Amino acid sequence: MADKTQSSEVDEIGDVAVDPAADAAGLMDMLLGVVRIQVLHAFASLRVADHVADGARTAQEVAEREGSHVRATYRLMRAAASLGVLSYEGEGRFGLTGRGRLLRSDVPGSLRAFVLVQAGHAHWQSWGLFPDAVREGASQAKKALGADIFDYLARPDNAEEAALFAESMADLSSLTIKGAVHEADTAGVSTVVDVGGANGQFVLELMTAHPHLHGQVLDLPHAVEGARAEAAKRGLSDRFSAVGGDFFVGVPAADLYLLKTVLHDWDDDRCTTILRNCRAAVNDGGRVLVVETLVGEIGKPDFAVLSDMGMLAVTNGIERDQEEFDALFAASGWRRSRTHPVGPGYFALELEAV
Ligand SMILES: C[S@@+](CC[C@H](N)C(=O)[O-])C[C@H]1O[C@@H](n2cnc3c(N)ncnc32)[C@H](O)[C@@H]1O
Repeated sequence: MADKTQSSEVDEIGDVAVDPAADAAGLMDMLLGVVRIQVLHAFASLRVADHVADGARTAQEVAEREGSHVRATYRLMRAAASLGVLSYEGEGRFGLTGRGRLLRSDVPGSLRAFVLVQAGHAHWQSWGLFPDAVREGASQAKKALGADIFDYLARPDNAEEAALFAESMADLSSLTIKGAVHEADTAGVSTVVDVGGANGQFVLELMTAHPHLHGQVLDLPHAVEGARAEAAKRGLSDRFSAVGGDFFVGVPAADLYLLKTVLHDWDDDRCTTILRNCRAAVNDGGRVLVVETLVGEIGKPDFAVLSDMGMLAVTNGIERDQEEFDALFAASGWRRSRTHPVGPGYFALELEAV
């Protein structure tokens, strides 16, 4: 339908050529985004990728393993095949594609937890009130969930969701950490604090690459147990500790602070507080490594400006461009010395104290 030769009408409004049929098809395709994400959500939740990991299976077999409704499971798998997440092998059997493999629970680089969180309860409820977030200039998470997202995740009743959130951050990190670790300058560094470090993926990878480093995660009290467990799993507990605290109150002393996808969760004032707390506690000659996406040229396809909508909807944060980051750094005693790409859409910004 997008082919102009088949469109019912091509017209002009001012200088702009309009093609209502093609435009309607384009909008309808965008609307299917809601279906795509929920197909992935159910696919991840029912562990379909795990069930077909060792060979193609029918929906009946998957439904029996999962205890789900047979016909609905078939319809889900058929939709997943149309999205290229499963392959159709004939005679009712579905196999795994490269994309589908990334929704297995047990493979490096898995994005399963990320899908479950992005399409899951807390995010979905907040997105449901998105027009009001734009009207009011603030996330409606509090209205939707009874608390801002991080307070919501800190509630003991939501421990499972919080653990999944931390896992999802680790999923996302797998796309950028390798590049960030490669670029990190650890000359003269012996102590590293991963501020808002969740499961500690970043600092633990850095410690693996540089065996002289001692690492620490500072995160909310409910979140640090996961970091300790991850350090133990990697055999790094002797060089690692995790502190439950509040980065708006203070951070432990360090030679290097890691701030990966933390500043984008907060408004300018809150970011300045975090950065000033790092400045107040940093050891002489110490640095900060910020990892974030950067907003690019307006009007071009841009991951950062779409991620920015998620920040407005859920966390009340902001994705920023380079200039906006530089203004935050200048307001809190830091100066950017380097920027380098570390993964799809993400950059490491290295800061030195002024
Ligand atoms: C978007 S996640 C980023 C996690 C990790 N840096 C990464 O990139 O995977 C933000 C983290 O900040 C933590 N956090 C939120 N408020 C905090 C606070 N006041 N003090 C310390 N950590 C906080 C959250 O628990 C969460 O782990």
